[in-house]
Amino acid sequence: MTELMATQAVHEKQGDTQDKLQVRVAIAGATGFAGQELIRLLCRHPNVTITAATGSQATSTPRKLPALSRIWDGTVVPLDAAALAADAVFLALPEAASAELAPSLLASGLRVIDLSGAFRLRDDRQRARFYPATASLPAGVAYGLTEFELAAIESAALLSNPGCYPTASLLALLPLQRAGLLQPGADIVIDAKSGISGAGKAATERTHFSENHGSVAAYNPFGHRHTPEMEQALGQPVTFVPHLVPLDRGILCSIYAHLVPGTTAAAVSQAFERAYADAPFVRITGDALPEIKHVAHTNFCDLGWRVDEASRRVFVVSVIDNLVKGAAGQAIQNFNVMYGFDQRAGLL
Ligand SMILES: NC(=O)c1ccc[n+]([C@@H]2O[C@H](COP(=O)([O-])OP(=O)(O)OC[C@H]3O[C@@H](n4cnc5c(N)ncnc54)[C@H](OP(=O)(O)O)[C@@H]3O)[C@@H](O)[C@H]2O)c1
Repeated sequence: MTELMATQAVHEKQGDTQDKLQVRVAIAGATGFAGQELIRLLCRHPNVTITAATGSQATSTPRKLPALSRIWDGTVVPLDAAALAADAVFLALPEAASAELAPSLLASGLRVIDLSGAFRLRDDRQRARFYPATASLPAGVAYGLTEFELAAIESAALLSNPGCYPTASLLALLPLQRAGLLQPGADIVIDAKSGISGAGKAATERTHFSENHGSVAAYNPFGHRHTPEMEQALGQPVTFVPHLVPLDRGILCSIYAHLVPGTTAAAVSQAFERAYADAPFVRITGDALPEIKHVAHTNFCDLGWRVDEASRRVFVVSVIDNLVKGAAGQAIQNFNVMYGFDQRAGLL
């Protein structure tokens, strides 16, 4: 964090210790799935004062959020970016709205934590294809996969929170790749299942109850916008096929990859143990394959795996709650890193 940001951003309610520091926070998109989750979590954050929560329409009337009654009794107001009295802003908006809003907020000296995909892709051509509203990446943008990007996150002016599928998938694959255990050039298959809240609150033909209940459907093989995000982080292609399952929340990724010759099951275990020795939100379960219910409503990512040494294959299961570790929770974890707070503040 720069000195300017530190003086602007952090206010002390009392005393001068780190645990008393208060950051004024605004949430744009507070009526959405991720935005409501942000409010629910930030309300109990010891270093946060929520100063504004906004919905979409400039003309809409202020409204309450019934699901958060007695947790947060504030009022959602229409979005007026120029009037946000805040040090940091969480954007839980459609990506085109984030792309439009973030540059002016940054220019006003606010730190921005964006949950959309607007600023995730560094390659101009990929960004033009998947996030056409984002003409260029502002200075000071960091990709917020917390466990692997701590240094960049600390000094970020604009934090681009990872997608939900990439969060689950990259936390499973990066330890193996960085330990040199993945066979170069061999295909990696990510077969992912997501609950319906991953698609946001507006029902579509695919996501409304009568279509989804009692069914499982694959969608967008090869063409999903999270594929280039994962390939950017891994530096190699992946075969990614997402599925919608009739759950309200949660993601389970079944991941299949090839290992370099001579890789033992012990080496795979060691790679995960080393990668996450100091990570408060990654729980490695080894042979015990984790389930969505173990992480629902939490910021944990649980990782389990099996190795077939004879065929040099590894199978990894990664589970997260898409609205918490896949969105609001990881965004707050990143906020904590940006302001020097304990990563767990507000989340455990
Ligand atoms: N859902 C997930 O699991 C998940 C996971 C990771 C990342 N994300 C990303 O997080 C963002 C929010 O997702 P979500 O699922 O919470 O979406 P959502 O439920 O559809 O909520 C969208 C929010 O944005 C507001 N909004 C819509 N258009 C706007 C505009 N033009 N200007 C200002 N505000 C506007 C809406 O306000 P009104 O209520 O007034 O319409 C609502 O508060 C998206 O970019 C999404 O890709 C979502």
